[in-house]
Amino acid sequence: YPSPWFYFQGARFCSPVDPRGLEQVESFEVRDDDVFVSAYPKSGTTWTQQIVSLVTAGSNFSEVSKIPVTNRVPWLETEDVHSGPEAPPTISLLNDSPSPRLMKTHLNYSMLPKQAREGKGKIVYCARNPKDVAVSLYNMVQMNDLLPPLSWEETVEEFLSGPPMNSWWTAIPEYWRHKDNNNLLFIKYEDMKKDLRGHVMKIAEFLGRNLTEEQIDEVTANCTFTAMKGNQATNVSRDPVMGEKMFKRGKENGIEFVRKGKVGDWRNWFSQEQLEKFEAFHREKMAGTDLTFDDEE
Ligand code: A3P
Repeated sequence: YPSPWFYFQGARFCSPVDPRGLEQVESFEVRDDDVFVSAYPKSGTTWTQQIVSLVTAGSNFSEVSKIPVTNRVPWLETEDVHSGPEAPPTISLLNDSPSPRLMKTHLNYSMLPKQAREGKGKIVYCARNPKDVAVSLYNMVQMNDLLPPLSWEETVEEFLSGPPMNSWWTAIPEYWRHKDNNNLLFIKYEDMKKDLRGHVMKIAEFLGRNLTEEQIDEVTANCTFTAMKGNQATNVSRDPVMGEKMFKRGKENGIEFVRKGKVGDWRNWFSQEQLEKFEAFHREKMAGTDLTFDDEE
């Protein structure tokens, strides 16, 4: 594997993110009606994107739902040399995009555009308990041809001792500290599992969208795990172009991008020893916060 990793402001990134794109993020011009969907990788990013874009669309949910997420919701961590129909648009493309713009990012709060941190635009942040995130990350590696393979043991080690700027325990407490910002909505994967419809309503209200009961039902129906698993616009493993380009390993291993969608899948993966180490680490790192996760189904 050619090493796809590089560092930017102490955080490690991998291709296709490019440092030239990252350099433009700080001064990115935010509009009042911009929406950023932000999440630590494997925490429900795509799920939140699907809800935000359908809520924003306001009608034709099934049609919008079928547009590939990568085309519908641009990434923020982009670069200018990247192109192709399935490629994330660049910052310059974003500058030329009509409003309202929906953007997805995995960046830490401190690396968001300055104007967003100052209150411009809106940020929907989705967090998930770290044990299920680690499991989902491991499975992502087993399905994505572009990532060097890692064993489950290596994944857990890496999750606990990777670069601090990339750590779950840096990213999530930092967003949590900003949960009361007027332009930030902090939601949890586990809560969405318990009450999807309630979260569709919460997100619609936060975005200032007045949806009828029927519209809320329809958005909800398009955002269930089953709907998103069966939809190649969200379950990109089933997209013919993306499937061929990145997910051949997943096909061999029988793993899809919209994989299992459970709370507590960690029980099937962690050994007792790994669990003790992980939970002790978690307790130590979270000692200063009041953020908790309901990680049992
Ligand atoms: P699992 O690997 O645990 O199944 P991201 O979009 O941030 O990469 O997150 C991917 C995770 O979200 C995967 O978790 C995926 O299955 C899950 N997911 C996607 N859509 C979902 C939905 N509608 N309901 C529940 N989980 C969903």
